[in-house]
Amino acid sequence: MGTKRHFRVWRGDESGGEIQDYDVEVNEGEVVLDIIHRIQATQSPDLACRWNCKAGKCGSCSMEINGMPKLGCMTRMSTFEANETVTITPLRTFPVIRDLVTDVSFNYEKARETPAFAPPAGVKPGQYRMQQVDVERSQEFRKCIECYLCQNTCHVVRDHEENKPEFSGPRFFIRAAELDMHPLDARTDRKEFAQASMGLGYCNITKCCTEVCPEHIKITDNGIIPMKERVVDRRYDPLVWLGRKIFRR
Ligand code: SF4
Ligand code: F3S
Ligand code: FES
Repeated sequence: MGTKRHFRVWRGDESGGEIQDYDVEVNEGEVVLDIIHRIQATQSPDLACRWNCKAGKCGSCSMEINGMPKLGCMTRMSTFEANETVTITPLRTFPVIRDLVTDVSFNYEKARETPAFAPPAGVKPGQYRMQQVDVERSQEFRKCIECYLCQNTCHVVRDHEENKPEFSGPRFFIRAAELDMHPLDARTDRKEFAQASMGLGYCNITKCCTEVCPEHIKITDNGIIPMKERVVDRRYDPLVWLGRKIFRR
């Protein structure tokens, strides 16, 4: 038999809502998603929550727990104080559909706007064997589970709806970085594209995205900063600039 704990859960839809109080049994080893399931089973069967794997791999159960963007299935109840109230709210950056479910289609739009992998013409499947050395730097980015916690956290869009059209966000900066580091990607302008069309310049390296990534991807240090550095090198380095001027003459 577990102990009763106090929870507060946001309930509502796009027209508005409010926090509701719940006293729920908590057992050893449980995570926040277990508590949501218990609320559904015993008190509010209509409480909406998106989830799938309960193993930190599908990226569906993103929510804000005591104001911190987290995966519900990976947040252990043992990480809270014994008498601490746990408040669960939907991701703030995306529009609410109902209760804890938000409309994350912003991210799918940004995915579509990110130029796809472009293999060189004439290379047929099987002709190029990838070596470990080829993927050493970029394979970290492949761990992304598309939970969009980083997208939800970045202040550029979290408090500024008006920046959304211009800003692809950290998840897509690392996608661009991954392709930039890909030995077979034929596009040579990934960095320039990120600067000109993905809003890389809006990022002021606060690193909040890195802090919330459940896959511990070093989004800022290993993805964003190398992309920025090389864009700065090419665009603003006075020697490169002078060289370009001279060559053009
Ligand atoms: Fe989630 Fe990390 Fe991928 Fe961002 S980079 S979507 S936080 S797994
Ligand atoms: Fe945003 Fe991450 Fe840059 S939180 S400002 S994308 S370092
Ligand atoms: Fe899949 Fe939480 S349910 S990541």
